[in-house]
Amino acid sequence: MITKATIDRIMEATDIVEVIGEFVQLKKRGANYVGLSPFANERTPSFTVSPAKGIFKDFSSGKGGSAVTFLMELEKFTYPEALKWLAKKYNIEIEETVETIENKEEENHRESLMIVTAFAAKFFHESLLETEEGTSIGLSYFKERGFSAETIKKFELGYSPDQWEAFSATALKEGYQQQFLEESGLSVKRENGTLYDRYRGRVIFPIHNFTGRVIAFGGRTLKTDKNVPKYVNSPESEIYHKSNVLYGLHFAKKAIREEDNCFLVEGYADVLSVHQAGIENVVASSGTSLTVEQIRLIGRFTKNITILYDGDAAGIKASLRGLDMILEEGLNVKVVLFPDGHDPDSYVRNFGTNGFKKHIAENKKDFILFKADTLLNEAGTDPLKRAEIIREIVESIAKIPDSIKASVFIKECSYLLKIDERALISELNKIRLAKAKKGSAPPPTLATPNEDEIGFEQLESEKRPEGESQEKEIIRLLLLYGNKVIDWDGIANTYIGPFMVAELSDVEFDYPAAKTFVDIYRREVENGVLPDEQYFIHYPEKDIVDLTVNLIATKYTLSDNWYEMHKILVPDEQVNMKATILGAIFHLKKQKVGKILEGLRTALQKTPDEADQEILLNQYMHMKKVEKTISEFLGSVILK
Ligand code: GTP
Ligand code: MN
Repeated sequence: MITKATIDRIMEATDIVEVIGEFVQLKKRGANYVGLSPFANERTPSFTVSPAKGIFKDFSSGKGGSAVTFLMELEKFTYPEALKWLAKKYNIEIEETVETIENKEEENHRESLMIVTAFAAKFFHESLLETEEGTSIGLSYFKERGFSAETIKKFELGYSPDQWEAFSATALKEGYQQQFLEESGLSVKRENGTLYDRYRGRVIFPIHNFTGRVIAFGGRTLKTDKNVPKYVNSPESEIYHKSNVLYGLHFAKKAIREEDNCFLVEGYADVLSVHQAGIENVVASSGTSLTVEQIRLIGRFTKNITILYDGDAAGIKASLRGLDMILEEGLNVKVVLFPDGHDPDSYVRNFGTNGFKKHIAENKKDFILFKADTLLNEAGTDPLKRAEIIREIVESIAKIPDSIKASVFIKECSYLLKIDERALISELNKIRLAKAKKGSAPPPTLATPNEDEIGFEQLESEKRPEGESQEKEIIRLLLLYGNKVIDWDGIANTYIGPFMVAELSDVEFDYPAAKTFVDIYRREVENGVLPDEQYFIHYPEKDIVDLTVNLIATKYTLSDNWYEMHKILVPDEQVNMKATILGAIFHLKKQKVGKILEGLRTALQKTPDEADQEILLNQYMHMKKVEKTISEFLGSVILK
């Protein structure tokens, strides 16, 4: 774990405007900075950064938080990754507490492997550019394939000399340990215990993880001999899990987010050529069939995947079923085929950026319709085969978690397959019911058009816990006034925050973030600390930061005429703090009592046993009295 002292130093050094300014063009406006939201497509800037508070708020997506949560949202960093990024930016040395010895060792082990792969990447890259063998063999090959110097540098392409030990001997001489050379797969152990180079005589494509560190390599042979494998790739290791990695993601993620789409290709060369043509939102699964982890990785950046297939159709049919997985993850999949003999690499080199884009625009098909098309073409008119295919397609549709989207596909397929929509819906509902019986929660079934429409908004609001707004109101007041001294009668020398949490000690919060918030507040008060706004803005849990920023950053509080708006908006509640604070506390209590009463009523109706009924009734009467007292209190002592 990163030490508290380090975190404090990072927070002190961090200038939120500077950090966000690396990703978003910001303009000063009044006390704040504004820019175009990096999370949504917008023309008028609604993204606001407040240097005074150290927060940002994006009014179009609703996201908000500190510099740390900004990095977590945008770059999909974990909390420690975001801290490390900031530490690097501000040259702060990170101190970590030793958790357990094993953890530390594991971390050290991974780090050692990464240090070796980084060294190897540098070695191969320099061999390519600075040795005679490298330039005459490797570099001329890359140039012939049309890769620019810029591309070669950006992707750190390399060359491994055609000698048995060029790399291994250098690495050992430089002090890298044999163990890590072997484990990373860079070197292979002979029977006599010495090492030789795995990639000798091959051009090298380093594979970066999504934060940009080299974790593995692909080495392509330059020989045309069919007996030599075209690619030799790194074996699985502690830092390289093939199924979790997408080639090129580090260089593509910004464009993926901006374009809100990810192109998926098959080979390293495809990624490089397409990227070089200015279409940067492209990654490759590198020869393996797509995995759920890879889909989720893409899903962090966009919900839209466009798969670019080579001309030869052989692999396509085999992969169709695998792609249902993408639907299951809730992503939208489109498919583009390239003419026979072409792959994305050759197509973009032949027809240029515009030709490539045009081909995609004109040929992209939604995956389900593509699948329907491909399979039906093959089945011809055979009714049995057609029935089987229809079932298979409805099965794909059943995997889409969003039922509105599923119903759109049902409509399109009904049109395309010339099948009555209701027949497709009934098939779909059958599959879903069967799944529901197997699994736990029943998935939503689709209503046939004749049945009543479901009110989706209503469903949405039903999910929200009751009284959430009252709970949030408590948090808002804690944030705003928690460290102010109470100035109303009878109570003196007490702060509002500790008073509130003490008053609420008998209340169970339902909304998880609010509950955690109050627990933290109480804990800190018990430790003699009064946590303030800044404390919660920099709290290491995203839910807490989100809740905090959402409550303190409104269009009004962050707008230009902040002060005026503030004066208009806030005084009411500040004029009578007693009413404001006690009002919020007792409104919440009243709501909780109401819930208890409701529970008792239901229990009463269900219990046949008279003794039980009497107990319940007594409890009911008691709670009723409590409710009345609260109401009276709210009505008389407090304004309303
Ligand atoms: P070029 O033939 O140079 O255009 O390479 P490419 O990157 O386009 O590769 P290709 O389309 O032939 O294959 C797609 C991907 O499959 C490659 O990028 C590799 O990741 C993987 N692959 C291809 N051949 C082999 C092989 O022989 N062994 C292994 N392990 N992977 C391979
Ligand atoms: Mn290729």
